[in-house]
Amino acid sequence: MTTTSHNVLPEELEDLVALFDVRGTDEPTPDAEREEALASPRFGTVFTDHMARVSWRQEDGWLDRRVEKYGPLQLDPATAVLHYAQEIFEGMKAYKHADGSVWTFRPESNAARFARSAHRLALPALTVDDFIGSIAALVRTDLAWVPDGEDSSLYLRPFMFASEPFLGVRPAAQVEYLCIASPVGPYFAGGVKPVSIWVSQDYHRAGPGGTGDAKCGGNYAASLLPQTEAQQNGCDQVCFLDATTNSYLEELGGMNIFVVMDDGTVHTPELTGSILEGVTRSSILRLVADHGREVVERKIPLEEVVAGLADGSVREIFACGTAAVVTPVGRLAGGTFDHTVADGEPGELTMAVRTELTDIQYGRAQDRHGWMRRLA
Ligand code: COI
Repeated sequence: MTTTSHNVLPEELEDLVALFDVRGTDEPTPDAEREEALASPRFGTVFTDHMARVSWRQEDGWLDRRVEKYGPLQLDPATAVLHYAQEIFEGMKAYKHADGSVWTFRPESNAARFARSAHRLALPALTVDDFIGSIAALVRTDLAWVPDGEDSSLYLRPFMFASEPFLGVRPAAQVEYLCIASPVGPYFAGGVKPVSIWVSQDYHRAGPGGTGDAKCGGNYAASLLPQTEAQQNGCDQVCFLDATTNSYLEELGGMNIFVVMDDGTVHTPELTGSILEGVTRSSILRLVADHGREVVERKIPLEEVVAGLADGSVREIFACGTAAVVTPVGRLAGGTFDHTVADGEPGELTMAVRTELTDIQYGRAQDRHGWMRRLA
């Protein structure tokens, strides 16, 4: 086994899954109830019958790989994560293809980011093999929960937390890794329609040397108050600026951002250490470049975008992430500005990128970059 990033070959997957002891529930959800839940899943509200789990002890390393009944965790009130937020997570999806096979998208990238996040939060790294093995073991156990509707998928949420009951401030000597699964439809209740964005002037998500490029719960906790402020200002989502100069676009509460100019070039904030390195973000950069378009990762001044919206040189803005896929932005507002993006409708490139990406993920288009991995 290795902790460095590598591709898991189809013939290796069986051995990785076999490491997980499946302790199936004797109270599975009745078929009719499951079918009802699958018919119109609202994001993150319904969970499958099982969860994958691996425990870590400082003296023994990772042990007890299993798939067990989904259910509440019993935690000592002194459990370290409840006090110091030593926690990380990932977001992935399992997609059902027309022939009934089930696939996931670039899991090695999520595994590598999970290991980077673990390092930043002083948590132990889970191997790529265990990460992918746990996901495949869970999906195979709860295969009946993978929805097959348009834009539906089984959302996978691997996470790791400090489980040691100890109030001293130091890396925990006991850690739990789990993966849970939730059948989902579109992330936004209204489906794929443009969202409005409020640019926060008062709050930042992350600063230099902080945890901005780690996928840790604390970053999302810090986004909740500004997100509420966005909603109070009539917007759906918040966008953060850099903490040093308060002038460059960084990212939304849970999504990366792209700006399309009238010369056809596509721009996204460069990775400065305080922005999450999105798997969807990097895939879009690749797909857009494949079409011969110029893609630019750079510092993007808010001022430039606001001026571009006013004079029409900014043609499209979109947000992206595993959960939200590619979501058009129809309005950008802040303390001193409020602009509709072009005519407020989903942009042409935005929707083309969304279609191309989802066609690959759902097996409707050739996987020319070798991004898909069969789970079942
Ligand atoms: C994802 O896109 O999967 C994420 O983890 C973001 C989360 C806010 C839903």
